[in-house]
Amino acid sequence: MEELIFEKGEIATVTVNRPKALNALNRTVVEGLAHVLRDVRRDPSIRVLIVTGAGDRAFVAGADIAAMSAMSTVDGMEFCRLGHRVMATFEELPIPVIAAVNGFALGGGTELALGCDLIIASEKARFGQPEINLGLIPGFGGTQRLPHRIGQARARELILTGDMIDAKTALEWGLVNKVVAPDQLIPATREFAAKLASKSGFALRQAKAALRASFTMEEDAGLRFEQSAFGLCFGSEDKAEGTKAFVEKRDPKWQHR
Ligand code: CAA
Repeated sequence: MEELIFEKGEIATVTVNRPKALNALNRTVVEGLAHVLRDVRRDPSIRVLIVTGAGDRAFVAGADIAAMSAMSTVDGMEFCRLGHRVMATFEELPIPVIAAVNGFALGGGTELALGCDLIIASEKARFGQPEINLGLIPGFGGTQRLPHRIGQARARELILTGDMIDAKTALEWGLVNKVVAPDQLIPATREFAAKLASKSGFALRQAKAALRASFTMEEDAGLRFEQSAFGLCFGSEDKAEGTKAFVEKRDPKWQHR
């Protein structure tokens, strides 16, 4: 699919490839992402997924406004459901996902980044939820995930004003993990990904699931989820190897199970 480039490997990359439309997400691209995620889930050789946008202007400038202008209420709800399913699938992937934000990440673009575990931004990145300026609200999960990531005050400011923030502010607000020079974005993201790929895949999976529980569950249920996930690690080869390697003062050799 031309509008989506998927490069496999231990560190796989999916690139939204509509640079002329600032990588806006239409239905075809969102459905394409769903397919890619299905492939990623089925391929145990992929240890980390990077998500980025083609060109040097945008990560994703949001859902495709031209396409949305022709949508009915039912179409809009269907598109929203599709987006929600895909963002949830990102969160439920057993491997870490890193957004490499090279430019505008607006509306569905910020929401796509929020579906990822970590966000690395170029100094040129801009974030925002400008849907209010279109007579809309965020529709790919932003009203829920943004306050969870950056707190109610700042999320309300972004969603109610539609204002954009730059990469430096996004770092200060805790939205992104790291800001780098534009030409360093992909190397720095790959370096971060390689660090994650060197960890136990089994433990990463449990950590990611437990972190998600902090968003999807009440605190009490989330804490019980952590107990189960921690317990599960005790049945893994990686926990046996990791603790043994520490005692033997050597590096662990992970089997990722
Ligand atoms: N959908 C469709 N096309 C888009 C787009 C979008 N979200 N964003 C940009 N484009 C297109 C423009 O129409 C333009 O196309 P043409 O060259 O054919 O005219 C091209 O990309 C370049 O954009 P601009 O000429 O506008 O570039 P700029 O530098 O002047 O401005 C910008 C850049 C500030 C990002 C501006 O394009 C912009 O405001 N884009 C829309 C951002 C937005 O509102 N996003 C939210 C969408 S709603 C949403 O995402 C809902 C949801 O939660 C799911």
